[in-house]
Amino acid sequence: MAIPIRLTVNGKPVDAQVEPNTLLVQFLREQLRLTGTHVGCDTAQCGACTVHLDGRAVKSCNLLALQADGATVTTIEGLAGTVGDKVGNGLHPMQEAFRECHGLQCGFCTPGMVMSATALVQEHPGADAATIRKHLEGNLCRCTGYHNIVRAVQQGQAGMQSSAE
Ligand code: FES
Ligand code: FES
Repeated sequence: MAIPIRLTVNGKPVDAQVEPNTLLVQFLREQLRLTGTHVGCDTAQCGACTVHLDGRAVKSCNLLALQADGATVTTIEGLAGTVGDKVGNGLHPMQEAFRECHGLQCGFCTPGMVMSATALVQEHPGADAATIRKHLEGNLCRCTGYHNIVRAVQQGQAGMQSSAE
């Protein structure tokens, strides 16, 4: 039996009906068509499904949609434009940094990486490379070897901080 939920997704109010066993990632992808949030595993290990729930990075494959009732959810689609865009291309500074630092190859992990990285900067402003690596342990990338991702997060962090000044 479907259950009504009400939440805010990427700044917009959403009223929906979900089954009790609908995962948050299924709800985002299949009901709201926000397919930037990826599914890379079925063991809650890869982090490709990472979104922000009330400002904290969470694995949306590991939560029920019901658990987001009343919450504020941000997906990769809602990130652009939330912090100053000095380059003027519409990207969030963290997205721009991943592009500039070649922090992606196939890009499958990238939405989750970017969502984890932006949450990291909010929680640990000024994080060093070791802290960034530790924080991203829950986000797996099969392509890049992580060096460019860490560089991207450092650059994105600087961009976020200068945008906030
Ligand atoms: S799909 Fe959520 S951790 Fe892999
Ligand atoms: S860029 Fe391909 S999995 Fe990370």
